[in-house]
Amino acid sequence: MPFLEMCGLRKRYGGVVALDGADLAAARGEVHALLGPNGSGKSTLLKVLTGVVAADAGEVRLDGEPLVTRGPRDALRAGVAAVYQELSLLDDLSVAENLVLGVEPVRRGGLLDRRAAERRAAPVLERFADAFGGAVPLRTPAGALDPGERQVVEVCKALVRRPRLLVLDEATASLRQRQVDVLFDVVRELRDEGVLVLFISHRLAEVRGLAARATILRGGRHVATVDVATTAEDELVRLMVGELATVPRAASAATEQVRLQVTDLAGPGMNGVSLTVRSGEIVGLGGLQGQGQAELLGTLFGARRRRGGEVEIDGEPVRAPNPAQAIRAGIAYVPGDRGSEGLALRRPILENLALPSLRTRSRGGLLSRRRETRAARATAERLATRYGSLSDLAATLSGGNQQKLVVAKWFPVKPRVVLLDDPLKGIDVRAKAELFAVIRELAQGGAAVLFGSSDDRELIELCDRVLVMFEGRVADELAGPRLSDDTLIASALQVNGGGS
Ligand SMILES: Nc1ncnc2c1ncn2[C@@H]1O[C@H](COP(=O)(O)OP(=O)(O)OP(=O)(O)O)[C@@H](O)[C@H]1O
Ligand SMILES: [Mg+2]
Repeated sequence: MPFLEMCGLRKRYGGVVALDGADLAAARGEVHALLGPNGSGKSTLLKVLTGVVAADAGEVRLDGEPLVTRGPRDALRAGVAAVYQELSLLDDLSVAENLVLGVEPVRRGGLLDRRAAERRAAPVLERFADAFGGAVPLRTPAGALDPGERQVVEVCKALVRRPRLLVLDEATASLRQRQVDVLFDVVRELRDEGVLVLFISHRLAEVRGLAARATILRGGRHVATVDVATTAEDELVRLMVGELATVPRAASAATEQVRLQVTDLAGPGMNGVSLTVRSGEIVGLGGLQGQGQAELLGTLFGARRRRGGEVEIDGEPVRAPNPAQAIRAGIAYVPGDRGSEGLALRRPILENLALPSLRTRSRGGLLSRRRETRAARATAERLATRYGSLSDLAATLSGGNQQKLVVAKWFPVKPRVVLLDDPLKGIDVRAKAELFAVIRELAQGGAAVLFGSSDDRELIELCDRVLVMFEGRVADELAGPRLSDDTLIASALQVNGGGS
């Protein structure tokens, strides 16, 4: 009898069927991956398990007993803890306080007992010391951590509860390689201690490195459960999304004409960045996390203050002190954080897709609502976005489908400069191939593209050149045969050590 059995689960949101009789079975001491395209019901299934979502029908059994939850507390009591796509830390509380929030014994007189909290949190954080660069941030306010560190703290928060079943829903999306390695070591230890780990990731290499078995969902239904080691990658992809045309690496569209020229750009987190991107060229930004990549992209878009330096587009100085002026100067920007910057979650999907083109359109240039709707629908379909209706709120989309929207809303604008800050986090393989094609199209149309990514594979597959950043500067440049997995890692670490 499996340790976890989920049978015939159904969940409907208005017109959207999220779960259509989904099944899942997994054993104790196993890392079990959950795969499927964006919107296939993975998060919903795990939220039923953790008591966040109430299913319309179906049954969950844990260790032979029916698991009936009226909320996350019941699930926690049964030993089920989770790390979700959306982050949950309170910025003003220390890391230790965040970790023990809701764990009863550390309260005294209704207040959090700070010492007890730290005693309980420290051993868990210690296991992840390497992911924090050695120093465990026990008393640091959560708001002061970078995205990768926050994500690691989310994992610690689940582990403080000593779960029998741990759910990781794209917990690696904002992690750098070193942090992923630390997390995976801990997951393997938990597995060996008998914990069941359910693991969602769109990065197949990670699934391969960690999970023994995988269950594939499509359209809210169980498609297959396979042994990961004996299933070829294209077979996994086929089970997830059907046949996927292999796209040969496109020829570079780079011309000789310098489109974007940045000289000595300085500001918080940046110490004099100089670079050029030619028309039609796709230039990657690599390096360890937090070396100024996000700051550079945000500053070019006018979303961060510039302290010095020059930016020119087609030889003309661009000041762009705010995003509205940046957009008018022909700059498009896709942030890595879809929640706070990329989308208006409380607005309809249609409105989100129309937003950048609305801003660039001159006054009086009335575009019919119908044409707008048609364009939005075409965009959504091209990326295989799963949604109920274009008038639904963006918040109702699955994580990956939200991210597709953040990128897709720029298609119609024909920008001169495209800035992308880790845009493919959590996007399924099919949509990723489509987005690569779209980014290449933007380049072929003459745009200069700057593409920041925490995934070295993406940098290699998409970019003409990769700039490796370190401490707010461009420290190295890789292109042609020098652009590979090994050189990217070596370069990121070497500049880190103060060499070359
Ligand atoms: N609160 C909600 N309201 C309305 N629809 C929802 C809600 N939550 C999920 N959905 C819909 O249910 C479907 C399944 O979503 P779910 O988040 O489970 O997908 P997923 O497999 O986790 O996708 P991803 O890989 O993008 O994270 C999607 O079509 C989504 O739009
Ligand atoms: Mg999800």
